[in-house]
Amino acid sequence: MTENNQQTKKQRLKTGEKLLFIVAGAFIILASIAFGIMQYVMATSDKPIFEHHTHFDLSEVGQRGSEIYRHQACSECHRAMSEGTNMGNSLDGIGTKYSVEWIEKFLSDPEKTYDHATMDHGKSPKQAYYVALLPKKDIHDLAVFLSELKSDQGSSSSPVPPKGESPFIDMMINSWAPDAWKEKYTDIRDEKPTNEGVK
Ligand code: HEC
Repeated sequence: MTENNQQTKKQRLKTGEKLLFIVAGAFIILASIAFGIMQYVMATSDKPIFEHHTHFDLSEVGQRGSEIYRHQACSECHRAMSEGTNMGNSLDGIGTKYSVEWIEKFLSDPEKTYDHATMDHGKSPKQAYYVALLPKKDIHDLAVFLSELKSDQGSSSSPVPPKGESPFIDMMINSWAPDAWKEKYTDIRDEKPTNEGVK
């Protein structure tokens, strides 16, 4: 009995250790609360979490595609033209990232186009399986509509970085890049966005 008491006494935490556990515990609790608040804001906010600098100018077919987009509940999982949820991929600016052919191929045969497992698009029972089963014409019009959602240069959905006006990047290039590079390579910050889709 006395031996046991002695053992428990020995294992007692020191004040410093207790303090460390309290601080670490408080940190974990605060981080969990902050994560919960962030998830709640993401799910309920009607503003995008990250600002997208995008624009669109819809053709007649694109306009028809946008109506199909609305009727087919795409916005339950996507955000486009400042509407929809933040829970899935944002489709604003997708027309700068992908060509109309790529988008059409993705909508009809998502798994093959991604070449890896998909979450919602694909075959039943995946939730967005119905998209690939839409009439070919609807898929085409949807693809045209999405291909007309363009990114501004430097936006988070644009493959082209902001224009070359960063003193920090200029300084790094001037001090670190060998002179030969300046002739060999062009500065991609000064390239025009292709708007033709990367894929
Ligand atoms: C149940 C949720 C859901 C619905 C409904 C849905 N999508 Fe998606 N979509 C996703 C997810 C998740 C991805 C990422 C690919 C994957 O894992 O399925 C995606 C990817 C995409 C992509 C490729 C984006 C990229 O950058 O790779 C396009 C285009 C797209 N969806 C269009 C549509 C259209 C058009 C509709 C409506 C006809 C639609 N989606 C309906 C969840 C959904």
